[in-house]
Order: sequence, then C-alpha cells, then structure tokens
Amino acid sequence: MSRILITSALPYINGIKHLGNLVGSQLPSDAYARYMRARGHEVMYICATDEHGTPAELAAAKAGKPVAEFCADMWQVQKDIADGFRLSFDHFGRSSSDRNHKLTQHLAVKLWEAGLIEEITESQVYSNADGRFLPDRYIEGTCPNCGFENARGDQCENCTKQLDPTDLINPRSAVSGSTDLEVRDTKHLYLRQSKMRDQLDAWIDTKKDWPILTTSIAKKWLHDGDGLQDRGITRDLNWGVPVQFDGAPWSGMDGKVFYVWFDAPIEYIAATAEWADAHGKSDADWERWWRTDAGADDVHYVQFMGKDNVPFHTLSFPATIMGSGEDWKLVDFIKSYNWLNYEGGKFSTSQGRGVFMDQALEIMPSDYWRWWLLSNAPESNDSDFTWESFQAGVNKDLADVLGNFVSRVTKFCRSKWGEEVPAGGEYGAAEDAVIAEIGKRLTAYQTHMESIEIRKATAELRAIWVAGNEYLQAAAPWSVYKEDPEAAAAIVRFALNLIPLYAVLSEPFIPDAAAAMLTAMNAEGTKWPDDLPNAMAALAPGHAFTTPDVLFTKIADETREALEARFAGE
Ligand code: MF3
Ligand code: ZN
Repeated sequence: MSRILITSALPYINGIKHLGNLVGSQLPSDAYARYMRARGHEVMYICATDEHGTPAELAAAKAGKPVAEFCADMWQVQKDIADGFRLSFDHFGRSSSDRNHKLTQHLAVKLWEAGLIEEITESQVYSNADGRFLPDRYIEGTCPNCGFENARGDQCENCTKQLDPTDLINPRSAVSGSTDLEVRDTKHLYLRQSKMRDQLDAWIDTKKDWPILTTSIAKKWLHDGDGLQDRGITRDLNWGVPVQFDGAPWSGMDGKVFYVWFDAPIEYIAATAEWADAHGKSDADWERWWRTDAGADDVHYVQFMGKDNVPFHTLSFPATIMGSGEDWKLVDFIKSYNWLNYEGGKFSTSQGRGVFMDQALEIMPSDYWRWWLLSNAPESNDSDFTWESFQAGVNKDLADVLGNFVSRVTKFCRSKWGEEVPAGGEYGAAEDAVIAEIGKRLTAYQTHMESIEIRKATAELRAIWVAGNEYLQAAAPWSVYKEDPEAAAAIVRFALNLIPLYAVLSEPFIPDAAAAMLTAMNAEGTKWPDDLPNAMAALAPGHAFTTPDVLFTKIADETREALEARFAGE
C-alpha cells in the first residue's frame, strides 16, 4: 500500500466552468483517486477555488457584490456542482483561506532570505480619484491601432493587439471612469526564477516518465526565446494575500497583494492544512503529505491540469518551493490535458456556446457525463464534444451494453427462480473463456490507470462489459432453460456474479450506477478482485438480490436535436 497525493488544478472563482474545464483536471483526477482508493492505497485528493486576481474583482463588481461575499457565494456554487459530479475531494478549499495567507507570506519570506526575491521600482499608472494604482486591466481607453474605444490597458479586445497602458489614447480608470491619472514610481517584488533555471532544468531531466505534452512545454519555457524570466509576484489590488504584514522583511508595500499565480498553487498545500483543521487533526497529519522532513518522502504526488497550466506547475511553483530551501514535497507526475472542443469549435463563455457544469447536471445524470467525458478525454489530442457522440456513448456503452446486461439477467432470474442466486449446474468452458478474457482486459485496464491513460482504461472497461453481454447472448439461458434448467441456473449464477464485479471496476467512472448495482445485488462491501474465479463465486446460491431499476435511460433523437439547438450559442 502506498500514499498517493492528488491535486486537481484549482478552478477560478469567477464563473461556472464548462465541460472542457471539467475533463481537463477535476474529472480525470477523481477517477484516478477513486481507482487508487479501490486498490487499497491511502489517498489525499485536494482541490480548491482559486479566488484572487483581477478576474475575481471584476466578476464581483459585475455581480454587484463585495468581493469577499462574491467569492464565498461562488465557492458554495462550485462546491455543490462538484458534489453533483461526485468529485470525491478529501477537501475542497479556498485560496483565500487564512492558511493560504500565512503559508504564502511564509514562503515569500523564505525566498527573500534565500536571495530569490528582489525589489524593483516600476512606473505605473496611479488614479488620483480612486486613490490607488491601477493594474493594466483597470485602465481603459481608445486603441491606438484600431480606434476601439473600450480597449483595456493590457490588450485591445477588438483587434487583439497587446498594449501597454501608456499606449492608450484618452486613458481612464475602469473603476471610476476618472481621467485624472498620472504615472508614478512604485515598488514590486520579483521572483528571480532565472537564478533557478539550471536546477529546474536538471529536475525536469529526471522525469523520464512524464508525458511529452508536459515536458515539452516546460522545456520550451526554459530554453526558447528569453527563457525563464524573473516575474513580478505582487499586484496593486485589495483582494488577495497582503504583501505587507508583521515580520515582512520589506517595507512600503502597503496596498499590494501577491500575484494570483504565486499564491494559487501554494493553496494545494494550504488546502491540505484546511482539511486537517476541518477534521480536528493536527499539523503533523497534513505535514506527512507535504513535508519530506515529516514523512512525505514516500508519498507519490500527482497533479492534473489543462496544458495552459503546465508552465506554472513545472517551473514557477517548483521554483517557489525549491527556492524556499525548506523540505517540501515536489510533484512526482504531472498529467496534462489538451482541449475539449464543442461541436468542432471552441466552448465560449461570452457567447453561451457549449455546456456548462451546472447546465449539464440539470440535463442528465452525472454518470452519463462522466462516462462520455472520460472515455473521450483529450489525452493524446484535442477531442470534440458532439451531441451525437454523447448520445452514442450513453445509448451504446451504458444502456445497450452495461445496463442491458444487468437488467436482462436479473429479470430473467426473477422470472424463473425469484430474486435469489439459483443453485445447480456448474461453470464450464464458456465461463472459463469469459474469465480469461476479462482477466486479460483487467490487467490492461489496471496498467492504463497506473500510468493515467484514462481513455485507454475506459476502452478496456467497456470491453469487460461487452464480454459479459456477449456471453449472456451466446449462452442464452432462456433457451437452455427449456431443456436443462440446471445448466441455465449456472449461466445465470455466473452472469449475476458479474454484476458486483462490474460495479467495482466501473466505480471510478460511474460511481452512482456502481453503487446502485451493489445495492441491488446486496453486495455493498465487494472489493477489487485479486482472483477472478473467486470473485465469480462471491454470490453463492441462495444469495438474495433486488432487480434494479433501469440503470441508464437512452437519449432519444428528438432530445438530442433539442439540446443541439439549445446550446449552439448566439
Ligand atoms: N485557476 C487556474 C486556471 O483555471 C488554475 C490554477 S491551478 C493552481 O487556469 F496551480 F493555481 F492551483
Ligand atoms: Zn484595437
């Protein structure tokens, strides 16, 4: 048994995520966590909301709420949705927590002491009316390139040109609209990542087993163009982790907070401390996951994320924790995902194109989404969500194969012997063949889960379901029964025994259906099989069950068409 620490990239607080976000970190990490628990490992699975930065402040302003209240409300919304998708986090934290404030400030001090943080004086736009420095996105004006009047200080949304706030014609504050702006000098803290380039490079070179997608992005940032640049890790915002605090080794940083990408990954650690707090545990209980001087050396740490997050996880965050000089656990494996497209195009929040997590749960049970998304996860390439493919995945894999199998055998048994496992007959060559086939598939399934090739794992799982369905079809107990009821009983007993097995193997992907199958079979405690022939004898003759309700409802063509139209966007 080992200890496995799993983190999913932290969703931004500013809005509800779409299915592409879900499949890029939370969903595969959940399947992996569930699988590892089922295999008997000790798992710590952590996620949280990423609450700081300008997008949070702007979204709160748009919602007409104070930012702290907005974040608290949105955390609850995201938590409920996560529960709806059955994401089995051990803790769903908040990057605005006190734990994260403290740890972020602590690590910044350590970096300072190690000579990895320096003060840089910059000229920045100050708004007299607002009494504050304005981040680039808080300055608006006319684009010098295309004349668009609402260009932002960092970029013109109309012509996409990257801008500097001083490029704007007639600049004004996005906070108050005031044009009483001036350029002033102000100090910021910079993380001297460039000093750590060789150390990071050497560390990544030891990661021979990482997906190419992960290492190629990291290497590109280390070696291309200007390489690993020093980064400003402070911003002029109110909401965030304050830079000026008791015991800070710097001064004159009032009114500044740490940059969101500095504090967010630190929340992986802080959220584990929040978990300890929430469960009345001690610091030692979370530190054994994170501090190599407190036993975390034998933890296997896996991170899940979309590919846009890779530079921060391969470079900036490791620079933070390595640079602190303290004994923090570094990631062992980074699983990154490509994009999920929507009907051949992009998901678009602003155009209402594609399906968002809250809508998805209103339309269909979470297992349907989990199955389709995970069996089509954008692992080696981008993948494309289409309603047609979704309909086919649900109807064929779930309803026609798994659901049909369970329903047929339980109903047939009920009609001939009642709701208990029938006695009589013996397993023979046909059953041995099914066991052999499932055994082969199961080995492949496990191998893929260990190496986090989720999509390949689902293909094996599907084949395991198909093996049972085809067996039942070929063995045809309904025909055999007429001539030889004993032989039919053995077939039905074998098929009934496949149900708890399927439930346990399917649980990482479709936990609700798995639970329903185990309840129906009166087999709740069933464990992962280490011996298939044994597992196929687990339900002995006389074992009572209840015929389950329909496990999966097929999606009709009219339903699919209506959904296509509803989510097509403006
Ligand atoms: N909020 C970021 C995003 O959605 C991910 C943050 S991951 C963490 O892209 F490292 F900050 F935790
Ligand atoms: Zn423009």
